[in-house]
Amino acid sequence: MSGPDLRRAAAARALDLIEPGMRLGLGTGSTAAAFVALLGERVGAGLDILGVPTSEATRAQAESLGIRLATLDEQPELDLTIDGADEVDDQLRLIKGGGAALLREKIVACASRRMVVIADAAKHVARLGAFPLPIEVNPFGLKATHRAVEAAVAAAGCSGAVRLRGRPDGKPLVTDGGHYILDAHLGAIPDPEALGAALWAVPGVVEHGLFLGIADAAILAAARDGQAEVT
Ligand code: 5RP
Repeated sequence: MSGPDLRRAAAARALDLIEPGMRLGLGTGSTAAAFVALLGERVGAGLDILGVPTSEATRAQAESLGIRLATLDEQPELDLTIDGADEVDDQLRLIKGGGAALLREKIVACASRRMVVIADAAKHVARLGAFPLPIEVNPFGLKATHRAVEAAVAAAGCSGAVRLRGRPDGKPLVTDGGHYILDAHLGAIPDPEALGAALWAVPGVVEHGLFLGIADAAILAAARDGQAEVT
């Protein structure tokens, strides 16, 4: 049972939550893409839903599948967002942004009555922080913001390197919103709420990848006896 099989199993279970007429937030990443692919099949078979994508990549995928789309400005209240995560703990606290879409993902999730996470069960952790925490920052004054983020991380009881995310050509990665990403390699985050508040206090930080009190449920798929077990 491979990672793609598990992602597809979690995505397939999320499809059970979809009802005709729903306004859906469509997440970003490989697991969300598996969901959008399955949703596209349903739409092709006649299901009528409206999707709000969380990235240009998801927009392109959904458009290619004939899924009816709106912007969040056109449809500011959504019924349900389905999205992946980089880590999820027992309290449904998440790290997101491995795909650099955290800002739009958080805005869309918070505009939704419910957010359901879909993931390979390997993303379930006892403590957040092994995955580097993405922090979206304005390019203006990057060095000053970088230093202030390092100080905020230390003030929240964390330690580790904070690095600018690059592209393969060596230039900084630019998000759909025109920002940069700083990845905080912390190993563990003892108090995610304290870290989130400290990061928000830094001018230049646009958003961070800690999703606290946002997710309502998680659908996790694990391999058991050669089958995907979804919980
Ligand atoms: C993108 C995200 C993704 O949801 C997260 O990185 C998980 O991706 P994948 O499903 O490919 O493991 O937050 O910004």
